[in-house]
Amino acid sequence: MARNRTVYVCQECGRNAPKPIGRCPNCGEWNSYVEQVAEVSNSKRVQQRLIGHRSEPQRLTEISGDPWERIPVPIEEFARVLGGGIVPGSIILIGGEPGIGKSTLLLQVAAVIANTVGPVLYVSGEESARQIKMRAERLDIASDDLFLVTETSLSTILDHIQSVQPDLLIVDSIQTTYDDRLDSAPGNVSQVKACATEFQSLAKNNGIPTFLVGHVTKEGSIAGPRVLEHIVDTVLYLEGDAFQAFRLLRSVKNRFGATSEVGVFEMQGYGMAEVTNPSEAFLADRVVNASGSSIVVTMEGTRPLLAEVQGLATPTSFTNPRRTANGVDVNRLLLLLAVLTRRANIKLFEQDVFVNVIGGLRIDEPAADLSIALAVASSVLDRPLAADLVAMGEVGLSGELRAVSQLPARLNEAAKLGFKHALVPRSARSRQEPLPDVINTIEVRTLADALSAAVG
Ligand code: TYD
Ligand code: MG
Repeated sequence: MARNRTVYVCQECGRNAPKPIGRCPNCGEWNSYVEQVAEVSNSKRVQQRLIGHRSEPQRLTEISGDPWERIPVPIEEFARVLGGGIVPGSIILIGGEPGIGKSTLLLQVAAVIANTVGPVLYVSGEESARQIKMRAERLDIASDDLFLVTETSLSTILDHIQSVQPDLLIVDSIQTTYDDRLDSAPGNVSQVKACATEFQSLAKNNGIPTFLVGHVTKEGSIAGPRVLEHIVDTVLYLEGDAFQAFRLLRSVKNRFGATSEVGVFEMQGYGMAEVTNPSEAFLADRVVNASGSSIVVTMEGTRPLLAEVQGLATPTSFTNPRRTANGVDVNRLLLLLAVLTRRANIKLFEQDVFVNVIGGLRIDEPAADLSIALAVASSVLDRPLAADLVAMGEVGLSGELRAVSQLPARLNEAAKLGFKHALVPRSARSRQEPLPDVINTIEVRTLADALSAAVG
């Protein structure tokens, strides 16, 4: 049998070469050549598509609003992140750290689709069918239309797809799948790209929606990132702290919906449970009237979420006091501590400071600044904040408080959970649509003002 011709292609500029080249003579990039199957057949396929299908310009006004017919997914937190359901023929990459729950969640999705829509093929390259069966038993899943296979060879997987004719395909994971026309090992960028491209054209041509599981590298991006993210329609990340139960499913790219949606789940003994009221869940174990605790309303995309920020300051025994941040950026914490010291007269140079966001949540938006600063100050002064107070605002280097986005939505969420007072930047009112009067807003100009309002 004649081997398929392989070529080496520069990932930067696309130049071809018969052999890998250390440095691209065209764009000068180092080590940018990866192996690929010569795409003769591919260009033919494109030609046929062009002959078979002629596009037709349409008036903008005649195109209907939601052109995507979606396969409904009865797991609402999951459907929300996809933009309402699975678009037929779409290809979705789901990434996350090992053990975070990707296989569990997708097996649950596979089961509900098999029960409500039609056959689902779950291809695992990592676990045996028996292992998956054991997980299914734990999840209490049973469906005659759910097909499992342990396979890593792309061509065999394609055969299985032919025979099962699934309505949904799940490949767990793209890094274990290999195309035997390439010499490189599975997981290699060229393998990942070749396999993903094959699944993509399969999804597009047959309308089979496909989930690809992607491993993340140490830096937190999906291995072979650029190539993969370009090929797929949607990129989801499952995040969370492996030692905490909460998991956030976030979309970072979505050709068929907003990228700002998050779904919240909790890892239980029987699989991933939806958390339909995350704010309540994040505050469930809160101890009221303890010093060093402050509640912030953070936005996860379009969704307001209440979270507890805790601060703890203790006398240090080091010459360089320690600053530890969990769930917030440590550099942001250092900045806030500097502002607290200089602008609000909170002495911190002989204190170790720890900050933690409860529930394994990570808050990166500056709106949490005020809450972080208040939590630390409350601990230093050993005075608790009012139990029914939320605080938000970006803290500037002069100690001034700056406006936060989407304040009305945040205030509504806080009021919904029974909070009575909200500490907000003074500039909030003039800049925003009218603030809802569901909650008493205390408007302050500086961090020092906020401190005297909150802890006296
Ligand atoms: P898994 O879905 O295998 O993660 P991934 O595919 O992202 O690597 O999840 C593995 C972890 O989840 C494992 O530590 C056990 C735990 N788990 C539960 O807590 N409850 C469950 O019902 C299941 C199936 C797994
Ligand atoms: Mg897995």
